[in-house]
Amino acid sequence: MAPLQGFTEVEYRRAYVDVYGTDAVDMCFTPFIRIEHGEPRPKDLRDALSGLNTGVPFTVPQIICNGPEELVMLRDMLVANGITRIDINAGCPHKPQVNRGRGSGLLSDRQRFGRVMEAVALDTQCRYSLKMRLGTTGPDEWRDLVDVINDTPLEFVTVHPRTGSQQYSGTVDMDRFVEICRMLRHKVVYNGDLLALDDIDRVGALQCRPAGVMIGRGLLARPSLPLEWRDGESWSRDKRMARIMALYQRFEALITPRLCGDSQILSKLRPFWQYLEPEIGRKASKMISKAGNMEAYRKALRYVDM
Ligand SMILES: Cc1cc2nc3c(=O)[nH]c(=O)nc-3n(C[C@H](O)[C@H](O)[C@H](O)COP(=O)(O)O)c2cc1C
Repeated sequence: MAPLQGFTEVEYRRAYVDVYGTDAVDMCFTPFIRIEHGEPRPKDLRDALSGLNTGVPFTVPQIICNGPEELVMLRDMLVANGITRIDINAGCPHKPQVNRGRGSGLLSDRQRFGRVMEAVALDTQCRYSLKMRLGTTGPDEWRDLVDVINDTPLEFVTVHPRTGSQQYSGTVDMDRFVEICRMLRHKVVYNGDLLALDDIDRVGALQCRPAGVMIGRGLLARPSLPLEWRDGESWSRDKRMARIMALYQRFEALITPRLCGDSQILSKLRPFWQYLEPEIGRKASKMISKAGNMEAYRKALRYVDM
């Protein structure tokens, strides 16, 4: 399960495992934890730390940093709370992070990237993985980083084969993914635009033999996708919808004690249903997006064509 800021937070991860079971995904990642006003942002930490004992099989906290100082500050905070496994975000394309040299902004600065990898190599307390794009703006920036990545002990490297400046537009660059996969000595996990069983099979059939896949928006749009893939066949729409309804009932129950009132709960729930539009139809999706209170939301759910 890919990290998705605002979506795959602790309550979602827990609801997902409660409804789809512990065998659906091998690993979850928290949305990134950042430094804000000179310290780890409390909201991000809450998510990573409260996620520790949720029954989710294996949750890896993700950090975003612009150099070894931020990495060490975040690492120290996590280690103090018993965490010894960290994923580093070198892919986030959002301007506020990129302009601070974080996320995909790390990839065009070989020296700074190298210093982050050096801090990883020197760390005796934690094990790391890396999540990266092809570059900040250029699709070949990764070439300058291969040696330093190969010299760094990493559990695996997840590659989303787009540049940061592409954001989420255009197509994923499968040729460059295959190249990077061949050149890295680490296990490589593929990420990007996996929406259907065939998409996962196509990655599995690549000759460079990626070690796994990470799924983000495809999982929001079709939460049963990993289980359907493991089953080797698509589920009926009835079966998919029954689980989706159970997922959002469970999710709502988990977020309700933390949030204040209908409007906060609705603003949390509504964006998920936009991703589900292909499954639930336009009419239901529109009604959900317009629901101003929980009663209207529940009424809209009844329009979901079961
Ligand atoms: C709303 C949203 C939030 C995201 N938050 C994060 C994040 O916190 N950390 C991260 O590494 N990637 C984040 N991503 C990127 C995804 O993890 C993933 O790399 C990207 O969406 C491509 O995979 P997909 O096509 O399977 O969604 C985010 C993407 C979206 C759309």
